[in-house]
Amino acid sequence: MDGPAASGKSTVSQALAKMLGYNYVDTGAMYRAITWKALEEGIDVDDTISVIAMMHRIKISFEIVDGQARMLIDGSYPGDKVRAPRVTEKVSTIAAVPEVRQVLVQHQRSLTKFGSLVMEGRDIGTVVFPSTPYKFYLEASPEVRAKRRKRDLEAMKIDASQEGVKESLQRRDKKDSGRNISPLQIALGATVIENSHLSVEENARVIFDHIRQQNIRRGAATVGEIRSSKSENHPVERGKHPND
Ligand code: CDP
Repeated sequence: MDGPAASGKSTVSQALAKMLGYNYVDTGAMYRAITWKALEEGIDVDDTISVIAMMHRIKISFEIVDGQARMLIDGSYPGDKVRAPRVTEKVSTIAAVPEVRQVLVQHQRSLTKFGSLVMEGRDIGTVVFPSTPYKFYLEASPEVRAKRRKRDLEAMKIDASQEGVKESLQRRDKKDSGRNISPLQIALGATVIENSHLSVEENARVIFDHIRQQNIRRGAATVGEIRSSKSENHPVERGKHPND
């Protein structure tokens, strides 16, 4: 699942992962965690050499908690600290460093060891899993996205004006779409969903139904392949599979 900032990827991906009984992976949280760590260490994020040196120093590991993958840095999980505005402001700079992406993409691919995944980010359909047949690109109007993000910030007791939030989203989208490495773009074969007027549940349902139709078209062999890739930790009962 790919799309611009505040396009609803996280909430929709979480709802879809529950419906499928799959694990949910927020790759944006990983780029945010690296940014948070760099800021904690007093590293200037524009100093690429120091950022790369930090990548060599830190130990990255993962755990699954309540069906969600968590990235730990040196054994600790930064949690909501990665959502702070100071991290948001710098994350696109860190995400444009090829060495950072190389390390994180490798980890992201390795997460299939935990079973099937719903993964969201900017380059999932283009770079991380280009051969998956299940690619979705979410978008919504700038006004709706700014409203959603303002609501998220309010829930974290962070005050921001609607206009300020809108500008910050636009700045980040421009950086994410314009960078040389793995820019945000619609993956070949992705289904684009404009969700300005859809609820989270409606959007997840649209995707679930789409996967089901796709599986019917792809035929029984592929259906079996998808079923057998389910993790033992997440038996079919946890969610209704789109082939059911
Ligand atoms: O939640 P929000 O839409 O604000 O963004 P996010 O998914 O938390 O991602 C934060 C930032 O990480 C993005 O603005 C990108 O710069 C970067 N990112 C990326 O480059 N590649 C990904 N697969 C995911 C995020």
